[in-house]
Amino acid sequence: MKAMKHFLETGTTRDANHKLLARPRRLRLTPTLRRMVRETELSAADFIYPLFVTHGQNVRHEIGSMPGVFQLSVDQLAREAEEIARLEIPSVLLFGIPQSKDPVGLENFAEDGIMQQSIRTIKQAAPDLVVITDVCLCEYTDHGHCGILNTGEHHHPHLPEGYVLNDPTLDVLGMVAVSHARAGADIIAPSGMMDGMVGAIRTALDAAGFEHLPVLSYAVKYASGFYGPFREAAQGAPKFGDRQSHQMDPANAREALREAAIDVAEGADMLMVKPALSYLDIIHRLHEQHPELPLAAYNVSGEYAMVKAAAANGWLDERRAAMEILLSIKRAGADLIISYHAKDAARWLQEGR
Ligand code: PBG
Repeated sequence: MKAMKHFLETGTTRDANHKLLARPRRLRLTPTLRRMVRETELSAADFIYPLFVTHGQNVRHEIGSMPGVFQLSVDQLAREAEEIARLEIPSVLLFGIPQSKDPVGLENFAEDGIMQQSIRTIKQAAPDLVVITDVCLCEYTDHGHCGILNTGEHHHPHLPEGYVLNDPTLDVLGMVAVSHARAGADIIAPSGMMDGMVGAIRTALDAAGFEHLPVLSYAVKYASGFYGPFREAAQGAPKFGDRQSHQMDPANAREALREAAIDVAEGADMLMVKPALSYLDIIHRLHEQHPELPLAAYNVSGEYAMVKAAAANGWLDERRAAMEILLSIKRAGADLIISYHAKDAARWLQEGR
């Protein structure tokens, strides 16, 4: 740091004889040197791959806005799970698309619901694969919202019509979590941004004898425009309104620290920031604030779709761009990355060996 001091004092990086004092390029001269000083490295073990499961037989329906990502029927899952395990990706995040929807989302906690069938099938085909289940109401409710709405018999006169009622929703989330646990889920991941959801799920799991199951909280989930393609994939778009009364305002960072601290206090075992790319600062801050917990980041559907669209036009190199994005998320402080690029990235890493 002699050079830096010299620079600050004299405004030059050269000494009296006009020789450069610092040459960072020395360490970039050869591939081996560059590998020696590399600070961050991706591995297949960092990834979690999302899966969308739908009713029916032999369904492999590609999502228009997410090339390479499919809605699969349960009979397709064994092969998919084996492939993921072969790629040394340790975990999948499951989303279910139900047969029919209603105001509460009954299939969400039905013993033979789409998620429950999927969990059992995957655990049978690839027992070591860690099955994480997304716990929310939006894919299951006919209105597409993440909870019980303020309407009809539940109507609260001081809250807006259509407002997502917090505490009645918690009861349902607890039931869904226990139902997933009974089917064999390894980690429960509530994504609805309800106040108290981690505590409610922890209590429900413990009461049902699942003290051993971890909760991965979508602690910091923003009301983001980058979920667009997902809502096509999981068919969970709200029929009216938006999610701004529970998901976070993209303008806020300090509030993210508060959300995370609350979830830690309620017993979260892991935290998540979502989306990833526009929120690398938040990932970094949570990593600093809660170094004791593993931190996940969700590289969401819109982030994937942007890369795919640009690559399809020949405007950027998909492999380079995707790997750079994943690396940046890890460098920011994420321990785990949920990504639709996970299988490609695992393959690219294998090729690079
Ligand atoms: C809600 C949920 C959403 C995503 C994951 N879980 C959608 C939403 O909040 O509207 C988005 C994931 C993505 O965009 O890839 N169950």
